[in-house]
Amino acid sequence: MNQPNPILSIKDLSKTYRSREGAVEALTRLSLDLERGEIIGILGPNGAGKTTAVKLIMGFIKATQGQVIFNNEELKAAEPRPGFGYLPENFRPNPNLTVGEYIKMQYNLARPQAIRAKRSETSEMVSTLLNKVGMAPFAKRRIAKLSKGMGQRVGIAQAIAGNPELMILDEPTSGLDPIGKNEVIDLLLSLKNEGKTILFCSHILAEVERLCDRIGIIVDGNLRFLGKVDEFLAQHQAKDLDEGFKKEVKCTTS
Ligand SMILES: Nc1ncnc2c1ncn2[C@@H]1O[C@H](COP(=O)(O)OP(=O)(O)O)[C@@H](O)[C@H]1O
Ligand SMILES: [Mg+2]
Repeated sequence: MNQPNPILSIKDLSKTYRSREGAVEALTRLSLDLERGEIIGILGPNGAGKTTAVKLIMGFIKATQGQVIFNNEELKAAEPRPGFGYLPENFRPNPNLTVGEYIKMQYNLARPQAIRAKRSETSEMVSTLLNKVGMAPFAKRRIAKLSKGMGQRVGIAQAIAGNPELMILDEPTSGLDPIGKNEVIDLLLSLKNEGKTILFCSHILAEVERLCDRIGIIVDGNLRFLGKVDEFLAQHQAKDLDEGFKKEVKCTTS
């Protein structure tokens, strides 16, 4: 039997924030492996620790404890993450740029410095990226004039600009109307079909059922469940994720 060889391995990852108001234990010993080509959704209410986990994976903050291992190599905080595509929780690109200008800039930033693309290659890549996220008709539109859903699609375009092996997306569908949400989910599914590996987090449950191979449920910094949606529903005798989730949160807080 083949040994699993996860693309990303998180081991005992913990974060305690220390501020004047005291210590906040935001994440407690999170461990999970992400297999190549898998989509995993980290779900949990606001304040559960999802963004903290994402920031630790990306190296924006230093872990109190634990490791992040990518392709069998441990990554340290503040080191660059080549091979990663990232969409932050509050994605706000420069509103004065057009969609095309912004994606061109991101593409140039994401490509290895040693390789200088010809201008024609760059514009071809920008078109490809915009086509992928359905934004090609809006290349000349200013970012400031985009709907929230279009903005998120631009966010996903910048996350795939460097042709990443692994995408880390923090609440890619939050704040979108149902149509915008479905567009983003369809887009993530098409990326999955291309073989991308995706870890994303969300506080909205229903939408992820058709997207995730596995879900992780975080409540108060603790991973309460990790596995397939069906297993979670069976465990809680719930008809959908919302119901199962309510039961999970209740049994944590009561
Ligand atoms: N920089 C910080 N300093 C102190 N506490 C923080 C900081 N960032 C987040 N927290 C706290 O850590 C907990 C987890 O936050 P976060 O990871 O943003 O949750 P989520 O993304 O699931 O909403 C919350 O209680 C939040 O208030
Ligand atoms: Mg968050």
